[in-house]
Amino acid sequence: MRRIAEIIRRGKPGEELTVAGWVRTKRELKEFSFLEVNDGSCLSNLQIILESNLGEYETLLKRLNTGASLQVTGILSTSPSKGQNLELKATSLIVYGEADPQDYPLQKKRHSFEFLRTIGHLRPRTNTIGAVMRVRNTAANAIHKFFQERGFLWIQSPIITASDCEGAGEMFNVTSLDLERLTGKIDYSQDFFGKKAYLTVSGQLEAEVMAMAFSNVYTFGPTFRAENSNTSRHLAEFWMVEPEMAFCDIYGDQDLAESFLKEIFKSVLENCQEDMEFFNERIDQSVLATAENIINHQFARITYTEAVELLLKSNKTFEYPVEWGVDLQSEHERYLAEELFKKPVIVTNYPKGIKAFYMRLNDDDQTVAAMDILVPKIGEIIGGSQREERLDILEKRMLANDIPASELWWYLDLRRYGTVPHAGFGLGFERLIQLITGMANIRDVIPFPRTPGNAEF
Ligand code: 4AD
Ligand code: MG
Repeated sequence: MRRIAEIIRRGKPGEELTVAGWVRTKRELKEFSFLEVNDGSCLSNLQIILESNLGEYETLLKRLNTGASLQVTGILSTSPSKGQNLELKATSLIVYGEADPQDYPLQKKRHSFEFLRTIGHLRPRTNTIGAVMRVRNTAANAIHKFFQERGFLWIQSPIITASDCEGAGEMFNVTSLDLERLTGKIDYSQDFFGKKAYLTVSGQLEAEVMAMAFSNVYTFGPTFRAENSNTSRHLAEFWMVEPEMAFCDIYGDQDLAESFLKEIFKSVLENCQEDMEFFNERIDQSVLATAENIINHQFARITYTEAVELLLKSNKTFEYPVEWGVDLQSEHERYLAEELFKKPVIVTNYPKGIKAFYMRLNDDDQTVAAMDILVPKIGEIIGGSQREERLDILEKRMLANDIPASELWWYLDLRRYGTVPHAGFGLGFERLIQLITGMANIRDVIPFPRTPGNAEF
């Protein structure tokens, strides 16, 4: 069996070969018919020619509607028609499964992404979702390659955890207690783990443990947030990439993040050319320009305080007013990246009051060594920081944030025994795929989106 992507690249006219896939369209004529067949290996379909002298021509054609699955053996030839280089003249054909044109939901016409979400089991067969999934695959591969080439160890951080890394209280509980029988106060010592457990919001704390032994590590896995934000950039289950580097400060952290994003874009442009051209033509005409921009220009680097000043003198009316000490909203982030700098912006040194307890306190005692990377159309795509490696200061910060030392005793131990300056960041993988493809809604860049009120498929 040959894959269509490979045939289009390397197929030679005259060779006999077998392909299998699903019918996208059928064009019936008296003497012969055309089938457009796709096997998911690339955006392009392979054109199959069925001649009427093929056994059971009429019966076969009736069974071969959009969505039907088949296997064809035939002779490859150069196509006389425009926009098509190679076609396959069928010599034999097997229909695996039919798809009744009366009720198969994916007919030839274009469907809205909202509609496609209601048929999450069939939407992978569309051009757009197909292209998204191939880009996702290439980007994931590029991420592993980037870190592996630099000697980072891939860490499988746990999915079930007892600690709230971000301290934002947006965690899903994990329990084996029979919820329907619970009355009164819950005794978690009777629960599966003998205490409260959650789905992780981040693998960072565990990555820090491992960085204190292997120097450079990264996690790449699913994370979960029970935040009730029904936006085009939030999922309840999303994938995060979290590198953590010992002997590294906030500057090294920014450098790594910048070259990391550039490498991923290069790899996608190189390996997903056809899909990227499709996005540029059909989804967002700035997608290729954005990729070139990210690869070829240095990111802007400003402090939070500078960002606030720039926003205040922008003469723009924002829905949420800007004020030092208050977190930047998506509209502010987008203004900076999209309108002002017109490229990714790294914002550092946020007020300590709006960032997590583990970020390193700066000498001004007011700000922490945080860094967020903001990009056009999305806003924040990366959040990271240098970590607080000084035991006494970390203890104070935990106290101020109501985080009991008894819960994170092991995290404090890392500062007790052989502590070192270290830093890391988290990249939201789906937001990255949105940035690459121009897809407006995050629900359309993950195979099976989980959002408030929706865990279908
Ligand atoms: O900024 P966040 O919350 O940072 C952390 O979790 C740190 N522990 C990372 C670290 O330093 N190791 O999340 C990191 C990124 C965000 O910048 C965003 O891209 C993405 O994760 N993200 C989400 N993506 C989709 N849906 C959500 N609900 C997301 N929340 C965060
Ligand atoms: Mg963040």
